[in-house]
Amino acid sequence: MAFYYPDPQLESTSVRLRKWSVNDLACIEAASADPEIPQGTTVPAVYSEPEGLAFIERQLARQTSGQGLSLAIADTATDVAKGLVFLGLNRIRGHCRLGYWLIPDARGHRRGTQAVAMASRWVLTETDTHRLVAQVVPKNVASVALLRRLGFVEEGVLRSWLWIKDEAVDVIQFSLLRSDIA
Ligand SMILES: CC(C)(COP(=O)(O)OP(=O)(O)OC[C@H]1O[C@@H](n2cnc3c(N)ncnc32)[C@H](O)[C@@H]1OP(=O)(O)O)[C@@H](O)C(=O)NCCC(=O)NCCS
Repeated sequence: MAFYYPDPQLESTSVRLRKWSVNDLACIEAASADPEIPQGTTVPAVYSEPEGLAFIERQLARQTSGQGLSLAIADTATDVAKGLVFLGLNRIRGHCRLGYWLIPDARGHRRGTQAVAMASRWVLTETDTHRLVAQVVPKNVASVALLRRLGFVEEGVLRSWLWIKDEAVDVIQFSLLRSDIA
């Protein structure tokens, strides 16, 4: 199975989810400069134009290779990219994993909540996904609050699950099922 780009595009009053473009390098540069984002993603820890372009190529390849779908979170009014939502396929039928980030200057204005709400609803209603999973480190209070706000259910703690800075840390696993939003 592969995901296709949502058609029509997913859009709210503040954010649009769209395909990545080579014009989005400023967003990758800002994400690279963030202390957290490069740790849990393939955003380059040290930005350069070739690394930024390679990152964008990898996002486009997620769809063409069947790994899932990486969407830029863009400002609705300007179309400038401010972040990313990833919907990742795995080998189990109907399962999908969720990832997301915003560059620092875009945070705190409900853009994250709106972007994840649109992506989650779309993947659970417009594809054959029935189970969407997100994993968050407990100290990431904004991300935990976002998932709870959107009705994700806490399933438990996966102990020493994620490598961050050479340390295996716990994550809280959340899920949203198609039946949760019916
Ligand atoms: C997590 C992230 C996407 C949230 O996006 P955002 O647009 O800033 O968040 P929102 O404005 O939609 O707020 C979401 C919730 O977090 C709360 N929140 C936002 N910023 C917060 C902060 N700094 N401290 C505590 N709570 C915060 C909001 O009050 C809201 O909760 P509520 O609905 O109960 O009021 C963003 O902070 C981010 O990109 N962080 C770095 C990368 C990351 O952590 N990605 C997720 C990995 S699992």
